[in-house]
Amino acid sequence: MTKLGTFYGIGVGPGDPDLLTVKAIRAIKEVDVIIAPKTEKKEGSVALEIARPYLKSDIEIIYQVFPMVKDFAESPEIFISNKEEILKLLRTGKNVAFLTLGDPMFYSTYIYIFKLLINEKINIDTIPGVPAFLAIASKIGRPLAFGNDILSIIPATADTNDIAAALESSNTSVLMKVYKNFDQMVSTLETHEMAHNAVLVSRCGLPDEKVIEDISQHKNDKINYLSTIITRRN
Ligand SMILES: C[S@@+](CC[C@H](N)C(=O)[O-])C[C@H]1O[C@@H](n2cnc3c(N)ncnc32)[C@H](O)[C@@H]1O
Repeated sequence: MTKLGTFYGIGVGPGDPDLLTVKAIRAIKEVDVIIAPKTEKKEGSVALEIARPYLKSDIEIIYQVFPMVKDFAESPEIFISNKEEILKLLRTGKNVAFLTLGDPMFYSTYIYIFKLLINEKINIDTIPGVPAFLAIASKIGRPLAFGNDILSIIPATADTNDIAAALESSNTSVLMKVYKNFDQMVSTLETHEMAHNAVLVSRCGLPDEKVIEDISQHKNDKINYLSTIITRRN
């Protein structure tokens, strides 16, 4: 009987290829197949481009399309069919790596695939990556938390009352997924007197990285999907 391959979930960090861990690079160089997640709308995979300097020349790359959904329940069939494709490869004895932007266990598509695969009695090795918000804090020179500070990570897609409660109870707030309702997020931060301390970073570590400090002046801008705001209470 063929020995099952190992499934690796690899965090490639937010953009700069120098931010991959030694463990991630080793796994990328050793696996037989790389799964590169992408959305229906975009051509390539950002995670794959970040990992590209480390790919061996004969690596098999499989692009898997994932929907941009809030919840697995919105389209389970796509996740299940991608999981089946991975399982098939593992059953032929191939080692398979699934690349993830930032860290795999932090707001990622990998989590859905991981949850489907843990029931399948296969070896899974999840390799952490630098999450975008931590790379951003270092890039812009903003310590996120010290002493007894409370730090909140807030998806801008969350319920507005929950967002307000989190902002109120935290010293520092990190706002993720701000691209859809950016104007509304800026207004919310203005209401909580946290807009003047805010910094927005788009595509951190990628060649077209952008840093915006006066977010109130950018209310009508189209914001890139890979954008995060860090702000602090006075
Ligand atoms: C689905 S979550 C992925 C989070 C990722 N797993 C991580 O560890 O950072 C997507 C959100 O992460 C943030 N993000 C990811 N990469 C980023 C980057 N290079 N620059 C700025 N924000 C980024 C944005 O808030 C984006 O909307």
